[in-house]
Amino acid sequence: MTDIVKSAEVQRLLDRASGVTETGGNPRLKAIMRDLLEATMQIIEKHDIDESEFWQALKFLQDGAGEFGLIAPGIGIEHFLDLHMDAKDAEAGQTGGTPRTIEGPLYVAGAPVVDGDLTRTNDVNLTQDPDDTETLTMSGRVTGPDGEPVQDALLHVWHANSKGFYSHFDPTGEQSEFNNRRRIKLGPDGRYAFRSKMPRGYSCPPGGATANLMEMLGRHGDRPAHVHFFIEAPGYRALTTQINFGDDPHAHDDFAFGTREGLLPVPDRSGGNPDIQFDFQLQKARSSEDEAFSQRPRAEA
Ligand code: DHB
Ligand code: FE
Repeated sequence: MTDIVKSAEVQRLLDRASGVTETGGNPRLKAIMRDLLEATMQIIEKHDIDESEFWQALKFLQDGAGEFGLIAPGIGIEHFLDLHMDAKDAEAGQTGGTPRTIEGPLYVAGAPVVDGDLTRTNDVNLTQDPDDTETLTMSGRVTGPDGEPVQDALLHVWHANSKGFYSHFDPTGEQSEFNNRRRIKLGPDGRYAFRSKMPRGYSCPPGGATANLMEMLGRHGDRPAHVHFFIEAPGYRALTTQINFGDDPHAHDDFAFGTREGLLPVPDRSGGNPDIQFDFQLQKARSSEDEAFSQRPRAEA
């Protein structure tokens, strides 16, 4: 193996290419860019990557750019961000409550806000389109660290239909806007309940960049059936999480690494249709930043 990355010539190249020798620009970006370039060079050297391979890889990234949001969870990077945040939280002593897990690429901002105050209503329905499958019911409480009810929470919920497709991203074009997507405004008791049509496990789009990459890695591109949540409430830390159905064949074999202990409830089918009882526990916010979701760019409708 050649060993030129640490040579004075290549180190000078890295300084110049990343702009660290210039006064303008963004210092944090320069430092990250320098490390990214150096790591890339080290990989080229370690694996003796030739020109053909390098340009083929670049073409793959170019053609697959529209699926970067899908590839990131598929290669475990979105889960790693969770592990990184968990580790920082542990260091800061900011632990406990329902585990976070990946948002995934399929949230859409602007879903209808519905009254979910169970002292006033008992029928929150997420599914507006016909879907010939069983009805899922899900209910529980949103509490704080001491088991106190979280007041006036907004529960964002989104999931796929029985074909495994999400509204807004459905290749069949069959779903109306915001099918299986709602923001549920909870009441003072922190209780929630909704019904919807049971989602099927998701598979990344056949023939797409993610599916191609998974095939080349000898992996599948399937997720267990799951339901996504954002929860926000005044005074509490915003939570991004999801439940995955514990009895799904992919419950412990999720291509996106979103399944976690504590987030795998097994639906109770004793009443015929699947029912899930699930309580969420939020951490207290330490700052107004804690109350807000990440600034990740998201689809809007
Ligand atoms: C992907 C899809 C999802 O529905 C999800 O929750 C996470 C990841 C994906 O296509 O990578
Ligand atoms: Fe999903």
